[in-house]
Amino acid sequence: MRWVTVFSSVTAAEKALAENSLRRLRIGTRVICLARTPSGYYAVEDSCPHRGVALSDGHINYLEEVVCPLHSYRYSLKNGRECDQATMDVETYPLRWQEGALQIGLS
Ligand code: FES
Repeated sequence: MRWVTVFSSVTAAEKALAENSLRRLRIGTRVICLARTPSGYYAVEDSCPHRGVALSDGHINYLEEVVCPLHSYRYSLKNGRECDQATMDVETYPLRWQEGALQIGLS
């Protein structure tokens, strides 16, 4: 697995991504939806399996799910599962803090 630094410090991460917000992240050919919730940071693919719209244009609900902006399908930020089993799950990416930097793991 290759680890890529997303933010170089906690301060940079908090400044770039407010709590309960989403942000699109491009790393090479991958487009990732980065999320910050009260329990931490999460990363999932930024494409809804239903019709392909960007999940980063949606919002986070109180269950810490990302809600698609088009038809409101919900995906767990923790494991990528589509909550009503109406379509496929989204891919998740591991995140870690390494020497103060937030990194994402890419296979
Ligand atoms: S495009 Fe995401 S729920 Fe339909």
